[in-house]
Amino acid sequence: MSDHPAEPGWIGVERFLSETLVKPDAALKAAVSTAKAAGMPAIEVAPTAGKLLMLLARISGARRVLEIGTLAGFSTIWLARGMADGGTLVTCEYLPEHAAVARKNIDGAGLAVDVDIRVGPALDTLPLLAGGEPFDLVFIDADKANNIHYLEWAVKLSRPGTLIVVDNVVWDGRIIHDESLADPAQDAAAIRASLEFIGSHPRLEATAIQTVGAKGWDGFALALVR
Ligand code: SAH
Ligand code: DHB
Ligand code: MG
Repeated sequence: MSDHPAEPGWIGVERFLSETLVKPDAALKAAVSTAKAAGMPAIEVAPTAGKLLMLLARISGARRVLEIGTLAGFSTIWLARGMADGGTLVTCEYLPEHAAVARKNIDGAGLAVDVDIRVGPALDTLPLLAGGEPFDLVFIDADKANNIHYLEWAVKLSRPGTLIVVDNVVWDGRIIHDESLADPAQDAAAIRASLEFIGSHPRLEATAIQTVGAKGWDGFALALVR
């Protein structure tokens, strides 16, 4: 008999941390419930991670934020709440149905920043953003197969000091499993390659943090542009 239960309490601890420290309000709860009601996947960041995005935006004094992958606006609202009033957040979403749900949630959150939802493949939108002011923070959280392309764009649209955050870089550990790496449908190879891209990029100073909780075993990468 093992001393270790299969799920050693991560989910209960996450709930405690969320209720004690994060305390999502009605607007954030709506971003989750409206997505569920619309049949959208429950793949928004955990509240603890959302609050981290808010703190990172606050710490970095972000006035311009780029998000790739909006879903129903849960992470968008967190990011926007960390930004200086009067800032601009551009968020890219492929599916018009997701963008419509996000629009309502974002408008209902009473944010003090302008949130510009760009509908369509992010790789079509990103070139249109070139030539504008650089972004202060970029959050990459869309189709994992394009992570390297998103990172290339994030660097192009940045300045020294821009913070790039990449979600889902551990993917239940599949980034080191030979079987998962051999199957392109699992996205493990693309995620791993994007970490190798970051690690060997001359302008990126990075780390990654593993996370556990209701969304399983995952993690995020943090890269600072130099
Ligand atoms: N950041 C959100 C979750 C995003 S889920 C949150 O934490 O709340 C990933 C989203 O990326 C989905 O809504 C999906 O439709 C979108 N997506 C997938 N491929 C895309 C692409 N090529 N361009 C832009 N968005 C894409
Ligand atoms: C999936 C995507 C995400 O961005 C995430 O945070 C969790 C899961 C997915 O596509 O399964
Ligand atoms: Mg994600």
